[in-house]
Amino acid sequence: MQNPIGVFDSGYGGLTVLKEIIRKLPKYDYIYLGDNARSPYGNRSFETVYNYTLECVNWFFEQGCSLVILACNTASAKALRTIQEKDLPVIAPGKRVLGVIRPTTEIIGKFSETGSVGILATNGTVASNSYPVEIAKFFPDHKVYQEACPMWVPLVENNEHDTHGADFFVKKNLHSLFAKGSKIDVVLLACTHYPLLRKKIEEHLPVAVKLLSQGEIVANSLVDYLKRHSEIEALCSKNRSRVFYTTDATEDFDNHATGFFGEVVQSQHLDLDARKA
Ligand code: DGL
Repeated sequence: MQNPIGVFDSGYGGLTVLKEIIRKLPKYDYIYLGDNARSPYGNRSFETVYNYTLECVNWFFEQGCSLVILACNTASAKALRTIQEKDLPVIAPGKRVLGVIRPTTEIIGKFSETGSVGILATNGTVASNSYPVEIAKFFPDHKVYQEACPMWVPLVENNEHDTHGADFFVKKNLHSLFAKGSKIDVVLLACTHYPLLRKKIEEHLPVAVKLLSQGEIVANSLVDYLKRHSEIEALCSKNRSRVFYTTDATEDFDNHATGFFGEVVQSQHLDLDARKA
């Protein structure tokens, strides 16, 4: 039976993470789901993000996945813990769901010499306080400054990430972040869409500041996880297949997805309402 690794995002952004995972772990089968019909998740309540994410995790399990990665910061911040602690033991005790926050917070402090770290994320991720709380567990002396950038996802999704409009919002949010923490020497792109704004962000970032994207960090952490959990690794099928689903129109997904994934994508439609009926 096929047992692909599931990769979930509210939309296209998780493709930036999947791209890096495949680069490091090419032999596995992957199934990607973007919940584009209900994205963005960034401004939604805890309960809504949890319900949407759990519904999609259940769909991955029905597809045969034993391991699902929430490649979405908002879902990782607002839904992951409840799914791991409350739902999994009941619905699928042998299966695993992992997020993107833990692998990042485990190592981020090592990149900072000043002990001041900046986090750029959606409203939802910032409001959850997940990054400051998790970083404090591994680097208790570090200071963490957050900045919500609610305009950045719409800029990327509307193909405006390389325009003067993007300059305005990138400058505005970076200015606000550094006004909070002038000693910040590491900035994390804590949203899967933001790597597409990387060029613009670098243009407006002080030269000495390091800019981190999560894709490679999450991919390295998954390599390590599979080594440490041979019982899960053994279940994952290895035929190098890649399948893409979106809950919205496939044409739109395919047009956008290429920019995030770096390769042509041909998605299939998933009708979540039909599943419920
Ligand atoms: N994928 C989301 C994240 O990483 C950003 C897009 C959204 O708000 O749905 O936080």
